[in-house]
Amino acid sequence: MKRKEIPNRAVVSTQWGDEGKGKIVDVFAEEADIIARGTGGANAGHTIRIGEREFIFHLVPAGIIRPKKVNIIGNGVVLDPRVLCEELDILRHAGIEYESRLLLALNAKLVLPQHLLLDRVSDSSAKSGKIGTTGRGIGPAYADHYSRIGLTINDLLNPHLLEEKLERNLREKRLLLRECDPEVIKKIMWHSHLGSGQFYSENDFLDVQAITKAYLAYGRRLAPLICDTDNYLRAAVGHRPILLEGAQGTLLSVDYGTYPFVTSSDCGIEGLVKGVGLRTPDIQEVWGIAKAPYMTRVGEGPFPTEMGGERSAHWCGNGATCKTEREQYSQVSFESENELEFGIAVRFAGKEYGATTGRPRRTGWVDTLLLKLATTVNGPDVILTKLDVLSGCKTIKICTAYQYDGPQVRWGMDTLYKGETLRKAIPNSEVLEHCKPIYELFPGWKQDITGIRRWRELPPELKHIIHAIEEKAGVNARILSVGPDRSQMIFR
Ligand code: IMP
Repeated sequence: MKRKEIPNRAVVSTQWGDEGKGKIVDVFAEEADIIARGTGGANAGHTIRIGEREFIFHLVPAGIIRPKKVNIIGNGVVLDPRVLCEELDILRHAGIEYESRLLLALNAKLVLPQHLLLDRVSDSSAKSGKIGTTGRGIGPAYADHYSRIGLTINDLLNPHLLEEKLERNLREKRLLLRECDPEVIKKIMWHSHLGSGQFYSENDFLDVQAITKAYLAYGRRLAPLICDTDNYLRAAVGHRPILLEGAQGTLLSVDYGTYPFVTSSDCGIEGLVKGVGLRTPDIQEVWGIAKAPYMTRVGEGPFPTEMGGERSAHWCGNGATCKTEREQYSQVSFESENELEFGIAVRFAGKEYGATTGRPRRTGWVDTLLLKLATTVNGPDVILTKLDVLSGCKTIKICTAYQYDGPQVRWGMDTLYKGETLRKAIPNSEVLEHCKPIYELFPGWKQDITGIRRWRELPPELKHIIHAIEEKAGVNARILSVGPDRSQMIFR
């Protein structure tokens, strides 16, 4: 294909994030000239291998390790300059030239110490409705943007404006913080992500001069990378292939997800396209990534097909780590009759621990109602990932309907009654938390599939399962991933 004929592509996750998007982005990046991010912030995380070592990056797009590719952090991103500078240090030490290839949107939103503080104060003090955020200041930074008191990356370049804007931004927050326990605030302000006390002030909690000084220093360092990336990308359309890299997952979208247990950006295709300054017709191929036949979720919120149900949610949400799990549940396997233990065996097999927080990801069976919902946002073409993880599992379950088990509730013109069968997902968490999965059962496949590269060589049981997912969710699974390596792909 000639460069001009290579389509502009976007890769978005269709579940709650962590579907293995990084590898797919890496594969498509080969054909692209420009790789751009448009949503989220340091709440995302992908592992990048440089030589023998692995690093977890939160902000810099994965395309940076490919020579000559231009990488963009777009206007829709909430950018924490501390995290970015750390990642640039890693690149510099590894000898990866980024100065001419990394562009930062001048209108990307700035994450400030007060955002990290508020994120942590509100999630740790929430009595109910705790979201289980990543603590990276994402919600408060987006909230400031929509409240019209946010700062942008360009503000780092204007010393005379920065302090004034910071003062304005902090005004209401100081009032709010007076309601909080000062000891809790102090402890949070000593976190390394908040400069280990560098921004703490005994009287005001947040020391505006210390913040100004540190952020101006970030500005001096980042200045050569800051530009109008919206215009840059618009000018590239039709001339240079573009790859857009989504963050989080559609079910975490503030607009389409399991609200309020979501992140604060629109993780669907429209949010992504807008977050880099483009229009949806500029993108010819949209690929939704879905794990199958299991799926995962990190943090709080409804998950109807969760293996082990509430016990699993409780275990994962209360400080369990990979280490404690390995100590306490060393005997679990796919033979486990106990659902919680089976879910842990899936977590071990799929290495399902958060890249940003290290938390265990909750595991559950694939939910075709939620997948269908995501494809109404992103379109029907999907890439199924992690298909190799459940090899050897005797029975595979696929959720094809729910039984509503909650109190009678109005949903627009409809009324939902207890005991009713639902064939369509209602993402609102007050409804979803009362949905019990109805499964179709399928025999599993025995053999290792990681070496298979052709559709026709896949075990018939797995093909049957993939067909069922396609039919129930209304998707086309045109690409399959059967292992972590770039080569472990099947194109149908
Ligand atoms: P926040 O984005 O830090 O505000 O967190 C809101 C919710 O989104 C929490 O449940 C997080 O666990 C979840 N979340 C945020 N980023 C990711 C991600 O990259 N993968 C999976 N879950 C995420």
